[in-house]
Amino acid sequence: MNKILVTGAAGYIGSHTCVELLSSGYEIVAVDDFRNSKLEVVSRIKELAGKDFRFVQADAADVAALRAAFEGETISAVIHFAGLKAVGESVEKPLEYYRNNLNTTMVVLDCMERYGVKRIVFSSSATVYGIPETVPIAEDARLTCTNPYGWTKYMNEQILRDQANAQKDFSVVLLRYFNPIGAHESGLIGDDPKGIPNNLLPYITQVASGRREFLNVLGKDHPTPEATAVKYKIQMTDLVYGHSSAMEDAAGHTGAEAINLGTGRGYSVLDVVKTYERVSGVRIPYKIAPRRHGDIAECYADSAKARRLLGWRAERTLDDMCLSAHNWQTKNPAGYL
Ligand SMILES: NC(=O)c1ccc[n+]([C@@H]2O[C@H](COP(=O)([O-])OP(=O)(O)OC[C@H]3O[C@@H](n4cnc5c(N)ncnc54)[C@H](O)[C@@H]3O)[C@@H](O)[C@H]2O)c1
Repeated sequence: MNKILVTGAAGYIGSHTCVELLSSGYEIVAVDDFRNSKLEVVSRIKELAGKDFRFVQADAADVAALRAAFEGETISAVIHFAGLKAVGESVEKPLEYYRNNLNTTMVVLDCMERYGVKRIVFSSSATVYGIPETVPIAEDARLTCTNPYGWTKYMNEQILRDQANAQKDFSVVLLRYFNPIGAHESGLIGDDPKGIPNNLLPYITQVASGRREFLNVLGKDHPTPEATAVKYKIQMTDLVYGHSSAMEDAAGHTGAEAINLGTGRGYSVLDVVKTYERVSGVRIPYKIAPRRHGDIAECYADSAKARRLLGWRAERTLDDMCLSAHNWQTKNPAGYL
């Protein structure tokens, strides 16, 4: 039986991936310690998939606790989402980020070695490209980072590559995400950031639902046609299906492979605001605010490798992304309870 161990399973991307895996016939063991999510998510995954699974509440950096999750199971692959992800917070608390994001990966690898698991899919990020020299960005672009969060992804990629070099039958897929947004079409699971949202769309949905007064558009002095930042957005449902394809791909090779999950189309901040207003019928008041330090003017992906190796392509439009996020927010105005 194809059983997948998923760390960070109750998080934004983890929860959507668990639903997709269960619906596609995989069994899962799900691990999370809820440091950035809520218990409620687990029952919503079960409800959406119409299936039960073993959930282990554990810190993935705790060796004994993670071994207990592997123990007695026949795990064929790991999808490793557990990690802290807020760029700004990582600048304020670098040690917390390095400790959690690196230790979880090393403990996961330790357990994989102990229990003979040879395949891992890791959540990396477009942040490993730093400020790109050209767009769209291909996987062989120069890597560099502008904040501790980005460096944890960069270092994790190196750790995973080294492990693949050391164990000749080991396979790693490093998925570099480009701004996943949107929510499951049911509106039962979605992005529920704690505190002030770091990302554009959750901010917009909170303005739409009246939780925040207006949106700050960060910078109208970018060297882009409309002068606001241009980023690729990828719908969650599209992103998620890249994971099962990546696992199948990992079964067919050894060594480490980095793959962008994004497309060659960027959307400006104002594109997203206008689209959201059109599909939701809700006006989003906004003000122009100064750029954040290190903000990147243009960032979108060359996804030819994902098409070639995974048969993957993003199919959802910006309308779908905005509509699904609006649906999630409308059904869950205060997020998960
Ligand atoms: N969302 C994005 O825009 C984005 C972009 C690129 C990469 N990523 C990466 O994808 C992964 C998932 O992102 P997300 O948006 O779902 O984040 P998220 O915060 O919603 O989910 C991460 C989950 O991991 C859990 N977690 C963190 N540390 C843990 C630990 N030590 N033990 C057990 N559980 C732990 C959290 O409680 C949370 O449920 C992260 O590694 C993130 O860095 C996310």
